Amino acid sequence: MDIRKIGVIGAGQMGNGIAHVAALAGIDVSLHDISEDRIKSGLATINGNMSRQLSKNLITEEDRQKALLRIEGAPKVDDLADCDLVIEAATENEQVKVKIFQSVCPVLRPDAILATNTSSISITRLASTTDRPERFIGIHFMNPVPVMQLVELIRGIATEDETFEASRALCTKLGKTIAVAEDFPAFIVNRILLPMINEAIYTLYEGVGSVEAIDTAMRLGANHPMGPLQLADFIGLDTCLSVMQVLYEGLADSKYRPCPLLVKYVEAGWLGRKSQRGFYDYRGERPVPTR
Ligand SMILES: NC(=O)c1ccc[n+]([C@@H]2O[C@H](COP(=O)([O-])OP(=O)(O)OC[C@H]3O[C@@H](n4cnc5c(N)ncnc54)[C@H](O)[C@@H]3O)[C@@H](O)[C@H]2O)c1
Repeated sequence: MDIRKIGVIGAGQMGNGIAHVAALAGIDVSLHDISEDRIKSGLATINGNMSRQLSKNLITEEDRQKALLRIEGAPKVDDLADCDLVIEAATENEQVKVKIFQSVCPVLRPDAILATNTSSISITRLASTTDRPERFIGIHFMNPVPVMQLVELIRGIATEDETFEASRALCTKLGKTIAVAEDFPAFIVNRILLPMINEAIYTLYEGVGSVEAIDTAMRLGANHPMGPLQLADFIGLDTCLSVMQVLYEGLADSKYRPCPLLVKYVEAGWLGRKSQRGFYDYRGERPVPTR
């Protein structure tokens, strides 16, 4: 199955990144979100990110122009009717995702593939809420999508080989490298990464080190390109908390208990970069630790 047009549901940091790389790879994209404003803001981010790639000579002006023309805003789910594959990249919340699948399934062609970019939720369980478990799959891009090389591909229990192969071919066309993961909570990357981030937050919570000390320690002591608290802000603290909750509930092991400080930050609306405040405050000229 040749995928020529994709639909992306959710124009946030992951959705606009997926639309960005697909359009540059010559695929038509319909970008959907809950409001015209969110779609506009996603399109503006893509425009800005492509301009940055242009200034670094990673793409040409012609590439940018052509790619931007391939992306159209899709204010209604009905606008996704002619897509070969639709990928859901909305908020990491099972109920939100299930509602989206219920509204989009009746619109799609029977042979269209439905994918999710979930960071942690069971692909099999999400698939079972749709009319097409055989044509449902997890395609887990990394953030930021235009920069990160990896995609995890996750089959649900019913995913057909044809769905898997078409998704694999799509990822290859987007220039990504694939790691196949089994359908267990948080798959591979986040099963390993998020408990490390959660532990960094406990380290802050227990006063073992300051925000700066923890991030410096892991950058210079473990050779990580960025500190775990900076990375948490980058991922989004709401997403980090959701992944920890899925691990905690899904594996029923207390070692995955979300740090109460992470819960508190999310309750405060301090979600990291996207809300201008998390472990760092981004409202000034340069980020400074919040506390
Ligand atoms: N942030 C990361 O590092 C990362 C990495 C890989 C995967 N993911 C996953 O990607 C998904 C999106 O994460 P994000 O970081 O882009 O979040 P985000 O908060 O930046 O964007 C989510 C978008 O979904 C939209 N949305 C919410 N409900 C919707 C609905 N009913 N219909 C259409 N759109 C709706 C929101 O308006 C928002 O624009 C999540 O499942 C997350 O776990 C995130």
